[in-house]
Amino acid sequence: MSEIKPTILVTGGAGYIGSHAVLSLQRAGYGVIVLDNLSYGHREIVKDVLEAELIVGDTNDSTLLQAIFSERDIAAVMHFAAFIAVGESVVEPAKYYYNNVSGTLNLLEAMLEAGVKKFVFSSTCAIYGLPQEVPMTENHPRDPLSPYAASKNMVEQILNDFDRAYGLKSVAFRYFNASGADPGGRLGEDHNPETHLIPLALLTALKKRSFLSIFGTDYDTHDGTAIRDYIHVNDLAMAHVLGLEYLLQGGESEVFNLGNGNGFSVREVIETAEQVTGSSIAVIETERRPGDAPVLIGSSEKARKLLGWNPQYSDLYTIISHAWQWHQQRHGS
Ligand SMILES: NC(=O)c1ccc[n+]([C@@H]2O[C@H](COP(=O)([O-])OP(=O)(O)OC[C@H]3O[C@@H](n4cnc5c(N)ncnc54)[C@H](O)[C@@H]3O)[C@@H](O)[C@H]2O)c1
Repeated sequence: MSEIKPTILVTGGAGYIGSHAVLSLQRAGYGVIVLDNLSYGHREIVKDVLEAELIVGDTNDSTLLQAIFSERDIAAVMHFAAFIAVGESVVEPAKYYYNNVSGTLNLLEAMLEAGVKKFVFSSTCAIYGLPQEVPMTENHPRDPLSPYAASKNMVEQILNDFDRAYGLKSVAFRYFNASGADPGGRLGEDHNPETHLIPLALLTALKKRSFLSIFGTDYDTHDGTAIRDYIHVNDLAMAHVLGLEYLLQGGESEVFNLGNGNGFSVREVIETAEQVTGSSIAVIETERRPGDAPVLIGSSEKARKLLGWNPQYSDLYTIISHAWQWHQQRHGS
């Protein structure tokens, strides 16, 4: 007889990474309830593609959260809901602190009131700031350079304090650049506005954008452009299931990097996107952006060792091919 697995509340499950996590949870046999205010998420992905339960609501709505936790038997929360645009956070910090910090605090309080004490959190490598060594491990000093990164760092601090005071156990995953799409082609990345390199390159290949900007061509890297660590979204999603199971089995609070361990330059990403799409991608070379590091590469040894995480899709061509399948069916004409 197959084991009946508990129900997980997934905030932000209508967004890019959250929707892939919902699929991985479903495949692993968990019940899923999605909470998303649809500020950036896609209703049809949850309802039609994932066929999951969707509660349209906000993490800052205490009354709604109390109702969800009292009416439903929820074993743990995976928390993806956040605003994610680094540049916007610099000009509108209040929006980011209110949504990402206050929203999370509100969620944690509702959980504690209901006795739910397992929490998987989307953090970011942006909390490290400029790298002092590469690859970066979880012990790298933290120096968040934007309100977005600071909001994630604050939540990590809150989680630390809530474990000590209330016994809330958490896994915080510090992602490097989430990328790719479920190989089935039914899920993928659709941010609006889009700020991430791979989807921007593919939208340019599809002629939905007229050009792609390269920010900085004079970095001290092999081709002068910045190097980033691209981690396939299905590998991220799988790590979340492993992190959840680690907590459900009584694991202590931990933080983990999730990266590929390989770096690819902006030019390498564009060249690979040209190979995958068979189209040339128009680029404009422009100035560096303030706060952008030349190289960001993560060590994910800890997640491999402690969680048994074994990423499947570390090859850039594969990552971009999966993203391309999705972009063609979502945006192709
Ligand atoms: N995309 C990346 O490369 C990356 C890197 C590091 C960390 N992260 C983190 O991963 C998480 C998911 O990112 P994503 O790329 O999937 O973003 P996304 O915008 O696609 O998904 C976020 C979802 O949260 C929802 N949401 C936002 N605020 C909410 C609130 N207050 N209440 C309810 N729903 C709310 C949005 O509608 C959206 O569906 C975020 O926490 C982000 O900070 C992403």
